[in-house]
Amino acid sequence: MPKITYIVPDGTRFEVDAENGSTVMENAIRNAVPGIEAECGGACACATCHVYVDAQWADTVGQPEAMEEDMLDFAYDVQPTSRLSCQIIVRDDFEGLVVRIPERQA
Ligand code: FES
Repeated sequence: MPKITYIVPDGTRFEVDAENGSTVMENAIRNAVPGIEAECGGACACATCHVYVDAQWADTVGQPEAMEEDMLDFAYDVQPTSRLSCQIIVRDDFEGLVVRIPERQA
């Protein structure tokens, strides 16, 4: 159960014990982290679960696959470490992962 920190735009941090095999999006919703809307329920079809992976975690988390990359075109203020959190599957080596929530979703 790695610990993930979500940082919302005002700087508030939400530390969550995340379940391996679930997604970064699901753990945010389950723990009432504000700013993740996840309108499509995790089907990679809405871009309202957009997060910025902390730069030092970008390699560990990895790059988006083609479908996610296409959907990120619809996200607001995309940056180099942008990911759709429903496409990030939690693993043990995510212990201490930090993601930031954008000002607004698409
Ligand atoms: Fe819709 Fe992630 S929840 S793309």
